[in-house]
Amino acid sequence: MSLKVKFAGLECVSPIWTASGTFGYAKEFDSYLDLKTLGAVVTKGISPKPRGGNPLPRICETASGMINSIGLENVGVEGFRQKKLPFLRQSGTQVIVNFFGETVDEYVACGAALDEMDGVSALEMNVSCPNVKKGGVEFGTEPSVLRDLVKACRAQIKKPLIVKLTPNTTDIVAIARAAMEGGADGLSIINTISAMAIDARRRKPRIATVFGGLSGPAIKPVALRMCYQVHRALPDAPISGIGGIQTGEDVVEFLLAGATTVQVGTQSFVEPSAAERITRELVEFMRQEKIEDVRELVGALAV
Ligand SMILES: Cc1cc2nc3c(=O)[nH]c(=O)nc-3n(C[C@H](O)[C@H](O)[C@H](O)COP(=O)(O)O)c2cc1C
Repeated sequence: MSLKVKFAGLECVSPIWTASGTFGYAKEFDSYLDLKTLGAVVTKGISPKPRGGNPLPRICETASGMINSIGLENVGVEGFRQKKLPFLRQSGTQVIVNFFGETVDEYVACGAALDEMDGVSALEMNVSCPNVKKGGVEFGTEPSVLRDLVKACRAQIKKPLIVKLTPNTTDIVAIARAAMEGGADGLSIINTISAMAIDARRRKPRIATVFGGLSGPAIKPVALRMCYQVHRALPDAPISGIGGIQTGEDVVEFLLAGATTVQVGTQSFVEPSAAERITRELVEFMRQEKIEDVRELVGALAV
């Protein structure tokens, strides 16, 4: 039985990756699971300079999910190289570094610096960030803005470049197409969904910044729909499916919808070894269904 997949040139032992911001810099999870069994780990988002986070409270639980507004706290590109990369480089798994900026120049500088680093296998661009020069609108919500951003980064990045799409848009296919036209090698679908929660007794928002990003099982149906729509419109674009994955069968659902790989996010908070259990469940599903090669499942939805 084979779990091996190739994603935008990246050879992965499994289609199961861990999602940015939910798996630290991998070292935090080393005692819970065997990192070598993962197809890849995606790091916390890295910016050119270190960033502190948003004020507390910045996490709250909701029905079948959670809202976070961490504020993209991270060690910065140089801190990453010095403090986090040495462990990742010898972890035995593919290392995908998630990155972002507040301006096009910051994205390009950050991506180019990470591209030079030994031990970084690929880059994942988070475009769910406010564009400070354009009144704070997310980069990833306007196709022409996204196309130009990806193009500018592509020109300086030689490694596989994956663009992680925001679901906070009316036309995910237009956004996906723009990312591919800009030169992306693959797409991660989806980031968190803009949301809020209210404490009725205190008459206050449950998150200090009022709005945050919804994740967990609550968003899985939206994520599946978006993966499927993009796969149908752009069948050659490699997709990494993300959103509420908790079981091996959830993984299969994303593969059927057209994803080549998936990412386990919020579930790793509930259960730090989740990605390993989910891998075992995927293998068991394949055994029961007599599937020899996991790639048989990709895009195999019967509609
Ligand atoms: C606490 C937290 C922090 C996150 N940080 C990032 C980040 O730095 N960059 C990014 O692209 N996505 C980030 N995400 C989004 C996740 O990678 C993922 O796309 C999302 O949570 C949906 O998957 P899930 O439902 O399995 O959690 C974060 C999510 C959570 C819950």
